[in-house]
Amino acid sequence: MKKFSNTGGVGLIHFAGLEPVVESLSRYIDVLEIEPQASWFKESLESDSFIIDQRITSFLRDCPQPKIFHGVGFPIGGTILPHATHFKTLQEHAHILQPLYISEHLSFNKYTDAAGTIHQANFLLPPVQNEQGITAAVRNIRYYKEQIDLPFAFETGTNYLHPQPGEIPDGEFVARIAEESDSYILLDLHNLLANEKNGRQKVRDFIKQLPLERVIEIHLAGGMYYKDYYLDAHSAISSTELFDLSREIIRMLPALQNIIFEMLPENLNRTISMTDIEKQLIEMHTLWDVRGSASKQTQLQRPISDCTNTITPQHWEYTLGSILNNHAEENELTKALVSDAGTRIIQDLVFEFRASAILGSLKMTCRLIKLSIGSKNFDALLREYCATHPSDLFIFASAERFAKYLSTLNLKIPHLKTLLEFELASSYTYIDGKTRTVNFNCDPFILIESLVNYKKPVLANRVEAIYAVDIQPDDVYQKSKPLMQYNTVLHT
Ligand SMILES: [Fe+2]
Repeated sequence: MKKFSNTGGVGLIHFAGLEPVVESLSRYIDVLEIEPQASWFKESLESDSFIIDQRITSFLRDCPQPKIFHGVGFPIGGTILPHATHFKTLQEHAHILQPLYISEHLSFNKYTDAAGTIHQANFLLPPVQNEQGITAAVRNIRYYKEQIDLPFAFETGTNYLHPQPGEIPDGEFVARIAEESDSYILLDLHNLLANEKNGRQKVRDFIKQLPLERVIEIHLAGGMYYKDYYLDAHSAISSTELFDLSREIIRMLPALQNIIFEMLPENLNRTISMTDIEKQLIEMHTLWDVRGSASKQTQLQRPISDCTNTITPQHWEYTLGSILNNHAEENELTKALVSDAGTRIIQDLVFEFRASAILGSLKMTCRLIKLSIGSKNFDALLREYCATHPSDLFIFASAERFAKYLSTLNLKIPHLKTLLEFELASSYTYIDGKTRTVNFNCDPFILIESLVNYKKPVLANRVEAIYAVDIQPDDVYQKSKPLMQYNTVLHT
């Protein structure tokens, strides 16, 4: 295993929008975790090449803390290996930010159908926990490690599904993969607590099965209940229950490098205040102080469970993925998964992710449609779209695909076409820094002001263009217009 020179500490995952947190609470932040793909753009809908957002990258480069990378979008728990262009951009990004190590999720998010076509599931899904699942993950990790010259850890995931018949227990599955691929472990204690609350293995039993000397990082977060399930929603600070559990476990970890807090930027000043984050970080420092204080040399001989589950990873990935994308075929596994209430939770979450990607990147367009056809009809339109169109991993690609769909609907909403053109042009300008001009046949200021105030615009729609609006890169970078705020990759 590759070693580190890091002295480690407490930190948080940075997303665009969390800059005020990083700046004002810098004294509590020893390290910054970065999801590199969250600041990449796909060159086009068809392309597999990426562009790095230089503005976010230079902000991060100028932060004094050491960085660590946490991959998102290309997890290592499945049978499909990441594309070579992913590693090319990842290496380029690592060259700029010099992370101390990199981690990825022990999940899958794409699957192959019988014709060999690869589909996105747009969710970090749990791999099948059997011998073949271990082989697939180990192969994927070995490939990943060959492509990037950094110490590597994989993260323990959330799993809303019931345990499958004859599967390997959660902790043992993770332990076997870590040992067989010679990897470090990123232990997400909030994920594990969610799994326990939702009926999977108890966290303390999970920990007993782990090679604790391989755990180099802890993730902490807060969640919420939804339809009797506890969600890993990153919507709150950590509960006392999670802190108490973490204190007990962190004492047992001899090689811990970092404890990281995860939150979504849209929750800042909504469900999580700056004071909340300060309290969270202070409490995490008290956890950091007890790291390894009760660690013992663990014995390497752990019993291996008798695994009778023989579902192939390809069949598992295809079945679960195709249920989420509404094109599942009838078979025994489909029947079993459809009857699992956890599958319905995942379906709801996938819809939420897809809808929020569209609403977040085509804000004013969506608002105009909603005000014109009503919220109920707009919701039905979004559901119909998500049920019948493939999803994209990258948010702007999702917006482009939805824009194409809208153009086929003939909605007859005044100004819709121009507004859509304007929003797409603004995001192209954000990506490539080129000035663009969009012609309006109404007063764009009145149009946009109405929408900002959630009012249906009442404007004459003239035949000829009467305003030419220049979209300057500085406007979209500083978000000085009320329209634009682009993140890229869908985050789960
Ligand atoms: Fe995590």
